[in-house]
Amino acid sequence: MRIDILTLFPNMIEPVLNESMMWRAKAYKFVNINVIDYRAYSEDKRKTVDDTPYGGGAGMVLRVEPVIKALRDIDGHEDALKILMTPQGIPFTQTRAKTLSKNKHVIIMCGHYEGYDERIRDYFDVEVSIGDYVLTSGEVAALVVVDAMVRLIPGVLSNASSAEDDSFSNHLLEYPQYTRPRVFEGKAVPDILLSGHHQNIQSWRLEQSESRTKKRRPDLYQKYKESKEK
Ligand code: ADE
Repeated sequence: MRIDILTLFPNMIEPVLNESMMWRAKAYKFVNINVIDYRAYSEDKRKTVDDTPYGGGAGMVLRVEPVIKALRDIDGHEDALKILMTPQGIPFTQTRAKTLSKNKHVIIMCGHYEGYDERIRDYFDVEVSIGDYVLTSGEVAALVVVDAMVRLIPGVLSNASSAEDDSFSNHLLEYPQYTRPRVFEGKAVPDILLSGHHQNIQSWRLEQSESRTKKRRPDLYQKYKESKEK
């Protein structure tokens, strides 16, 4: 998979990509990620990328020319899935992460300021929001999308089943997990997990997932019940 990220703040993105799972995914060539500073595509002397809004009002608006110029300079941009990060987009979910992770090439645009020149939207295929809140920079949102997508690429997680067991992948939150020590400050690991009885452990985990989801996320639990009835 190839991912190009259009940003004004490469330094917000690169350190995150050079750690942990993202680093591993790149090092083992599961993904090729390029970070592009679209300020470099501004044609004025001061390399501006924003301007005041027509019609007046507070804040600055991201200009269309540098963004589209940078986009068109990306090799293979015609065939890539082009994603615009914005709180106005469709909500990002685990299902969406799965669909997106199947693309060979995605381009992700990080916004800033009060907003985009509306014409920028015409050059992107999909607008994505990571939640109903406003961030100062689209970089943080883009990193969320990249992380969720990359870990789903087959081979990135060393144990493939750990992505299948994820919370949300079957409308259920994940079951409780424990590791050593067996007792910590009087809190013991449930006996069943030490029983060595694989089937009983599996059913205990499913029950735990169900009751946890019902309590914490009744909305998800409803979806789970509906999906079981199908
Ligand atoms: N940019 C600012 N806020 C955002 C959000 N919630 N989702 C995606 N991009 C954003």
